[in-house]
Amino acid sequence: MTKTKVRKAVFPAAGFGTRFLPATKSIPKEMLPLVDKPIIQYGVEEAIAAGCDQIVIVTGRGKSAIEDHFDVSYELETMLEKRGKKELLAVSRNVSNMVNLSYVRQKEAMGLGHAVLMARDLVGDEPFAVILPDDVIDAKVGCLKQMVDVFEKVQGSILATQIVEGPGISAYGVLDGELMKGDPRVIDVKGLVEKPKMADAPSKHAIIGRYILTPEIFEVLEKTPLGVGGELQLTDGIKGLLQKEKVYGYSFEGKRYDAGDKLGLMTATVDYALRRDDLGPQFREYLKSLKL
Ligand code: G1P
Repeated sequence: MTKTKVRKAVFPAAGFGTRFLPATKSIPKEMLPLVDKPIIQYGVEEAIAAGCDQIVIVTGRGKSAIEDHFDVSYELETMLEKRGKKELLAVSRNVSNMVNLSYVRQKEAMGLGHAVLMARDLVGDEPFAVILPDDVIDAKVGCLKQMVDVFEKVQGSILATQIVEGPGISAYGVLDGELMKGDPRVIDVKGLVEKPKMADAPSKHAIIGRYILTPEIFEVLEKTPLGVGGELQLTDGIKGLLQKEKVYGYSFEGKRYDAGDKLGLMTATVDYALRRDDLGPQFREYLKSLKL
């Protein structure tokens, strides 16, 4: 490893989003709004807040709206300028000025590990972050920033985790390992398994969509066989990485929403809207009036 700072963040965004059909027939699921911002923008802002200055988005067919979103929207901005809508103009410009973005296509949906592998040339030989945009995390200090702080100490791969009770654990990658004594949020990882049956889950520590990975992961992923669902699983790749170097779990502080799921996105929408100065008070009154 030649560099020790995490500057790049990879966003796998090539999935079909079938859970949101028919909305996702023509709109990428990453562009569905959480209040008034597309889901993926929350992740991009989190990466910037963690010190990343290069964003790599792994896209696929039908995802050009993501590229347009982070681009300059000349017609829109000219119109807003003419009408004197300064605040809205700033909102639009903010998005396009945010950060450097690069795009790489994942031609076939062959799994999360495959998506990460597509970013190899753009990442190069340095540690990098992976953010799954579906996982929206609300935290005082952004989840990735918390992980970057740990990375600066341990200089090894780190996976965000949270405790999942019951059969729900089978929807996640699960760590085998325990919280370290000196640092109660850090887990010394001994093994990993992708989407185990509840009875086979080695712990309740589920992987959530934030990773910091060393570049060695690319070589390992190249040799990793297809796993659950016939896909190249990132979890399996990290299991291979564990044979070569230490891997840590990090039980982050914050609330995670699964915005890739209808109920998850609805819950996030209510929570985020209630906190907004411009919407919260009226929305709260409305919810109260429902007398559920
Ligand atoms: C992916 C990963 C899984 C992880 C999850 C977090 O699964 O493969 O290990 O726990 O994201 O959201 P997916 O949700 O894409 O099936």
